[in-house]
Amino acid sequence: MKMVFESDTLEVIDEKIRTCEMCTLASTRNNAVPGSGNINANIMFIGEGPGKHEDENGLPFVGAAGKFLDELLQGIDLLRSDVYITNIVKCRPPQNRDPNPKEIASCNPYLERQIDFINPTVIVTLGRFSMARWFPGARISDIHGVPKRFGSRVVVPMFHPAAALYNPSKRPVLHEDFSRLPGFIIEMNSDDNHESKPGFEQLDLL
Ligand code: URA
Repeated sequence: MKMVFESDTLEVIDEKIRTCEMCTLASTRNNAVPGSGNINANIMFIGEGPGKHEDENGLPFVGAAGKFLDELLQGIDLLRSDVYITNIVKCRPPQNRDPNPKEIASCNPYLERQIDFINPTVIVTLGRFSMARWFPGARISDIHGVPKRFGSRVVVPMFHPAAALYNPSKRPVLHEDFSRLPGFIIEMNSDDNHESKPGFEQLDLL
């Protein structure tokens, strides 16, 4: 069993993910998908899990949902090379079924180490599975776009870009939620906004 250690670099974590056999998804995957992007990113996006194309390529969000994610990033003048993108589970659940709690728990040490390493000020959860890690029991339609402070980071739950492919009315909602991200980064990085500052339970930054 390969453990994830605090001293692991991102390359070591990626390699441990690629060779992971901690859950049964290892036996059906073609490629594990650790994540990609800028290791110094201010923003980290966390999706659900690889789909068919991601499993084939070993990269996150390379299918139709990824195209829309690119459009959303472009809308706020960001490229993939400005952000870091990963998923709550790193291997494709067969037939794109929902990841189960055991799979999510097996993958969690990898995600924790990725978060520690990238150290983003803003984490955007895409879809309900990554949302549930920080907002258990919440409904995405109630809390999307609303930032919440967790220690030195702010976590912003959002709809999954794939939701907009099935339901076009979600497109402007996602664009609107994305449009607030630059302001969150500026606010979080501002000098007088330190970890110890109280009153961040529910941020309304703009
Ligand atoms: N959907 C996800 O949640 N993640 C991907 O990498 C691709 C599609």
